[in-house]
Amino acid sequence: MSNSDYFYHVGFGRADLGSNPPVVAVLSGDPNRAHLIAQTHLRGVRMLAENRGLNSYLGLLPNGRPVLSATSGMGAPSLSIVVNELVQAGIRVIIRIGTTGSIQDYVKAGSVVITHAALCRQGAADDIAPLEYPAAADPFLTVALVNAARELSVDYHVGITASVDSFYEGQERSETSANPHLMRRLQGMTEEYRRLNVLNYEMECGTLFKMGGVYGFRAGCVCGVIAQRTSAESIVQERKSAAIDSAIRVAMLTAGQFGI
Ligand code: URA
Repeated sequence: MSNSDYFYHVGFGRADLGSNPPVVAVLSGDPNRAHLIAQTHLRGVRMLAENRGLNSYLGLLPNGRPVLSATSGMGAPSLSIVVNELVQAGIRVIIRIGTTGSIQDYVKAGSVVITHAALCRQGAADDIAPLEYPAAADPFLTVALVNAARELSVDYHVGITASVDSFYEGQERSETSANPHLMRRLQGMTEEYRRLNVLNYEMECGTLFKMGGVYGFRAGCVCGVIAQRTSAESIVQERKSAAIDSAIRVAMLTAGQFGI
């Protein structure tokens, strides 16, 4: 069996993608979101694999183009493995559909953030490119995401995202964390980022963008805002599904404009 027959972590191979293989993937951290996208936005859906929680679905967009709805898992190490295997499977455009915590007052829970560049504080990315390597989204994909948000009248912001490795310490959470003791270098980090015009925290796009640069695929990111860190550490449950739904709709409208 050659390497392209089967990819160990995602659990499928090139042959499973059929005679009209997708070049576009939408990538969710949560396997339930990958499933929801397949069920609600694609037709003729086929589940490719359900391996290690990294569920993948193949289906067609309304315009007939094939798209993969895949799961990255949480955080950059898992995402880096999935993205590596998706690229080996022939994927050339990846749109991350995530969730995020806003660190600016004007970026409200329920809105979406389209990231054009990331402050990348992620160990997995350091194995792929030097620290100084830009974590920049594909400009064409980013403009397409913005245009989709406008067309759908979604409340959106475009800007810089802090991509970090942990949800609790790395995003300066101490009240809702098992560990109330933040290391000195993390204390005041959110305020510092706010002053640097960073919009939000999430845990994957910095590494995705660096991989896009190094591997040569288009990478973009749209996240639903589910926490408003200017007022609290917790998730704003009543805005969560609207935020995720908006991020999904923006990504799917964009996905239809790329690929074959
Ligand atoms: N995802 C994150 O990484 N942080 C948040 O606050 C919400 C979602």
